[in-house]
Amino acid sequence: MNDGERKYEKRLDHVIRGEENIRKGRPTLAEVREYWGKANIPQQWYSRKEPFTLAWFNELAYKRYNVYYDYLRESAEFQWHPGEEVLEIGVGLGTDLVEYAKHGAHVTGVDLGPDQVMLTKLNLELHGLPYRGIYEASAESLPFSDEAFDHVFCFGVLHHTPKTMKAVDEIYRVLRRDGTAIVMVYARGWKHYFKRCLIHGLILGKWFRCGFNWQAVCDEVSEVHGSSPKTNVYSRRGVRKLFRQFPSVEIHKKRLGEFIDYKPYNTVKLPKLWRNILLLFGLEGLLGENWLVRLQKVPCPREATLWEVMFKHY
Ligand SMILES: C[S@@+](CC[C@H](N)C(=O)[O-])C[C@H]1O[C@@H](n2cnc3c(N)ncnc32)[C@H](O)[C@@H]1O
Repeated sequence: MNDGERKYEKRLDHVIRGEENIRKGRPTLAEVREYWGKANIPQQWYSRKEPFTLAWFNELAYKRYNVYYDYLRESAEFQWHPGEEVLEIGVGLGTDLVEYAKHGAHVTGVDLGPDQVMLTKLNLELHGLPYRGIYEASAESLPFSDEAFDHVFCFGVLHHTPKTMKAVDEIYRVLRRDGTAIVMVYARGWKHYFKRCLIHGLILGKWFRCGFNWQAVCDEVSEVHGSSPKTNVYSRRGVRKLFRQFPSVEIHKKRLGEFIDYKPYNTVKLPKLWRNILLLFGLEGLLGENWLVRLQKVPCPREATLWEVMFKHY
């Protein structure tokens, strides 16, 4: 490893341990809880129906799986865990937990905020779905015994918690030996890098106003309502490092995002042809906004070589 690589690795370690917030210091869990409550609970602005009704939750789910995160219908594996113990960390409005419960999973959820806990319970109850429990708790110290869950789902949460690595350790701890975890963290791509850092950071001058601190720019512009206490954005190498204790880590970049997958703020969406061209040239791997990571505690079998497939296996 040369000097440049060593410097890069050291910086990566800082990012992973959540020690990037040089400007403000590491945020506390209380600050993160405060930020994500009430009007900041994501996605509630997708529906104009009467808030907190079944129709409102239904429309939020419809938009989530058809407009904003259509890849989740397949990738979250909602239908593949009936009868299993499923934990969601950072439930938000509970939209995804409802999907697991609809398909027969025994669901448990946690979130830092009381509003998210209350709304997730309401969402499940309005759908007439049973649940084990929805608790106010932190990803960094989960109130569950070791190996309590078959499947852990954590979408858009780890990059906001102050000690990300501690939360990863907790996922590992509560997951059964043959369990799976699906995690989404922000990726360097169109939205979090080109748009938010290049346009907001450089062209609109936020980098200068933030004392030349990219992390501060990221925190400032990463969320719909701005000024998040902490938002990390990862490279593929960063993701590998973050989950290095899991023997099996599958990483996919997802969501081409604004103008291509969905209309930002009701503006325009490019013709489907654009999306297909970008997909054809594999540009989702460059421009995608999300890392969708599938984790297992048991190693994947070794990949067979082309030679073995052609000449050894029938
Ligand atoms: C961006 S929202 C995502 C919510 C939901 N998963 C979704 O996709 O709509 C982040 C959520 O993670 C929660 N959160 C952040 N840090 C957390 C922690 N340490 N433990 C539990 N929940 C946390 C926040 O309260 C918030 O509800």
